[in-house]
Amino acid sequence: MRNLVLSFSLLAPLLGAADLAGTWHFEAPPQQGPNGQTRPGRQANYVFKVEGNRFTGVSFNATSHQDVIDGAIEGDTITFKLKNEWGNGGKGAETEYKGTVKGDELTVGLANPPQNNGRGGRGGFGPLTLKRISNETSYIMPPDLEHKPFGAFKPIKPNGLALTPPMGWNSWNKFAGRVDDKAVRDIADAMVSSGMKDAGYQYVNIDDTWEGPRDKDGNITTNQKFPDMKALADYVHSKGLKIGIYSGPGPLTCAQYPASYNHEEQDAKTWAEWGFDYLKYDWCSASGVFHPDEMKSAYEKMAAALRATKRPIIFSLCQYGWLEVGEWGASVGGNLWRTTGDIRDAWTSMLGILDQQPGREKFAGPGHWNDPDMLEIGNGGMTDTEYRTHMSMWCMLAAPLLAGNDLRSMSDATKEILTNKEAIAINQDKKGEQGVRANKNGDTEVWKKPLAAGTAVALLNRGGDTARMSVKWADLGITKKNPKVHDVWTHKDVEAPEQLTAQVPSHGTLVVTVR
Ligand code: GLA
Repeated sequence: MRNLVLSFSLLAPLLGAADLAGTWHFEAPPQQGPNGQTRPGRQANYVFKVEGNRFTGVSFNATSHQDVIDGAIEGDTITFKLKNEWGNGGKGAETEYKGTVKGDELTVGLANPPQNNGRGGRGGFGPLTLKRISNETSYIMPPDLEHKPFGAFKPIKPNGLALTPPMGWNSWNKFAGRVDDKAVRDIADAMVSSGMKDAGYQYVNIDDTWEGPRDKDGNITTNQKFPDMKALADYVHSKGLKIGIYSGPGPLTCAQYPASYNHEEQDAKTWAEWGFDYLKYDWCSASGVFHPDEMKSAYEKMAAALRATKRPIIFSLCQYGWLEVGEWGASVGGNLWRTTGDIRDAWTSMLGILDQQPGREKFAGPGHWNDPDMLEIGNGGMTDTEYRTHMSMWCMLAAPLLAGNDLRSMSDATKEILTNKEAIAINQDKKGEQGVRANKNGDTEVWKKPLAAGTAVALLNRGGDTARMSVKWADLGITKKNPKVHDVWTHKDVEAPEQLTAQVPSHGTLVVTVR
């Protein structure tokens, strides 16, 4: 349980400085969602401790909990930073804020507001006007946000699933909040008719925004977009496919719908009864209710709840790679874990994520995979050459292959990229090794992935011009004389007894198997 108690002596502020000490609150009216449910409005709470013209404190709501540091009061103007305990490697990011105090009214906003507020409907960054609700300067976790303490952490055994990287589709990248029952049925149909199922894609995964309120017994319900989850799961199963769902360990999902906090067993049971085969469990608001050292247990709790249903359910961790998740993701029952923030449908975003994968290969293997996020292939923000690189590299990485486009209306090029069976065979290779960057020379890179038989080699050209690239097999530790070299995109054998030399187009990737 997080039980932060700040009890301070209330020192009088300096003469002329604003009176800031106390508890401040902002709450926007509840939002009527388009999906027949009411969502809580944006909330902010501050508890400030003032000493002279300096102050510290806490900022919290249902989705976050941050320390206030470096607070300074100058007249009625205040400046401070919010320090996040969370982030990669546990290092907390600090964000600067500024505000003005007028009696019992405090207006605060980002000192340097961003140009846009990103994607995913996470609410704006505009300034908020808070009211002083008391002179209290101690903070105690509200009772409905408390949880039972976790016992000492003990690793959970593997569930035996995902012996090769999971393959399927996820609704978020293309549909975001617009996913509904019909779209999921259509996608299942298209997965079969397009040849995706034959190529190995299996899971049809519903991401955020399916959730409705909890009923009087605390059971999670769906919103109007999903009238009957069991019937939907039955439909997807009738196509010979599997179906996935989404929640998180916090009180709210990233899109501010109810998540599984303090309802873990109940939700796992509900999903199993509905017939789900895959869960993506997204951290989001959980920073507001857990300490960093509780993250493993918070994930393991759901893994155990899923196991207790006796239904085989793939468990996908989504916590953006924080706290070196690769080191413990498998021990909490994860079959895959995100390694970064969200992908965008852009070449720079895809490469940025690729660059965060080297070094993580030691954590991947049958049953537990690094997840560089879902595919953007076919969503329109990259060229077909760039999408071929996206597919090539995700296959080299032994990444989960979750298409993120509208399968109902794919171009031939998109379909050809997503269903390239030779590229997929590299991804799904039984050895389950994640590929590594063997060599980087400016904009050109050579990657290799050991296979059960042979090696896959990728020549990636990130540069703006065609590049002549060359690699000697011996330099990659490939000792076989006159190996059989096969290009997985042209589907042709290549004459390359000792080395491979090729013109690789700008933003293109050549992938060969060497056997
Ligand atoms: C987070 C995740 C995304 C998606 C959204 C849904 O941003 O990282 O993949 O699930 O939440 O709200």
